[in-house]
Amino acid sequence: MSNCDMCLGDTNDMSARASFRCPDSAPRDLRKKSKRFIVANGTPFIFSAVELPETRHLVRLVLIRTLVERDIDYVTESVNAEKWGYDRRDIERCWRYEPDGCFVAEIDNIPIGHVFSICYGKIGWIGLLRVDPEHRRRRIGRDLMRVTLNYQQGAGAEAIRLVARDEAVPLYLSLGFREEFEVIRFSRQIRRADSVNVDKQAWISQMRQKDIEDLAKFDCKYFGASRVCVLRSLYKDEPRLCFLAREGTRLLGYVMARRIRDAYYAGPWVCENPERAEDLLCACIGAVSEETELRLDMGSLNENGTGLMRKLGFHVMGTTISMVWGERKHGGNSAGIYGIGGREKG
Ligand SMILES: CC(C)(COP(=O)(O)OP(=O)(O)OC[C@H]1O[C@@H](n2cnc3c(N)ncnc32)[C@H](O)[C@@H]1OP(=O)(O)O)[C@@H](O)C(=O)NCCC(=O)NCCS
Repeated sequence: MSNCDMCLGDTNDMSARASFRCPDSAPRDLRKKSKRFIVANGTPFIFSAVELPETRHLVRLVLIRTLVERDIDYVTESVNAEKWGYDRRDIERCWRYEPDGCFVAEIDNIPIGHVFSICYGKIGWIGLLRVDPEHRRRRIGRDLMRVTLNYQQGAGAEAIRLVARDEAVPLYLSLGFREEFEVIRFSRQIRRADSVNVDKQAWISQMRQKDIEDLAKFDCKYFGASRVCVLRSLYKDEPRLCFLAREGTRLLGYVMARRIRDAYYAGPWVCENPERAEDLLCACIGAVSEETELRLDMGSLNENGTGLMRKLGFHVMGTTISMVWGERKHGGNSAGIYGIGGREKG
């Protein structure tokens, strides 16, 4: 905090108000309520008081600040406690997409919660919200979300999306998110016999670095915004698991897969027709070349996709809910999205 340009304000305290200017970008309810908060580098950081259970009469201040590199180990441990399947590399990748959009809540310099976000122009994405169990139901999750929503709006997002677990839906509804559709997590065991020779598939080719720009333009029609930075970074991590489908020179679809903590994950997986979508996933399964599990998350509205999952022997691991805040119009074309890039980034 010491290297930040900060001021401290309390909207009910007249003497503090004299020196405090609430930024115009702060959410209206944040400006109205008598809550103390800091403004550091133009971003409002909430400072709220909680009473810790073990110290009945002692009140501690919760600070919400931007996440920095030294927090990555804490976040990795925290998400592993939920068995979300990320390793340190995944968390660091998510943070590097947009370090200013990721926040930590802390008490006495000890992190107790976090949230990540990324802004793709008019579409914002929020993920990896978690508060340590002993600090839950004290409005810390809500404050983390409000700081993130404020950041996203300031960055230009008009539609802010996330994929919610059932337990968190009431929190998101209370912040103005609306439910859209179910997102189904599918899984399948991969065996060595699944191996596919990609060269023999006329439509499918291995993705190359120089394909990414064209791919990002193609992807934008479906996702609704450019996510070229995410595509570049995923490609860099596991190029051997990235494939394109083409008809002549025309791009029909692509898939990118990667190793996660205890399995492999396929997505984004975007294609304009179901036959080529199947070829793409089969190429990916073939390239994994080890006995392991492959997971992916698919919107329930993609009927071709859910049919394909049954045909390829995938089973349902669970469901989450896609939710949106703000404008619905930046939706792209979800019919061609077979697998999302990840719950944390869309
Ligand atoms: C979801 C989570 C981040 C909420 O954090 P939190 O600090 O406990 O939430 P808050 O205290 O800010 O809750 C705000 C409101 O959300 C709702 N809410 C929060 N947790 C809830 C729960 N378990 N069941 C029902 N409603 C809940 C309530 O309306 C609550 O307001 P109230 O306490 O005045 O009734 C936290 O429970 C958590 O880390 N869970 C495990 C990880 C997870 O599921 N993350 C969400 C991924 S989508």
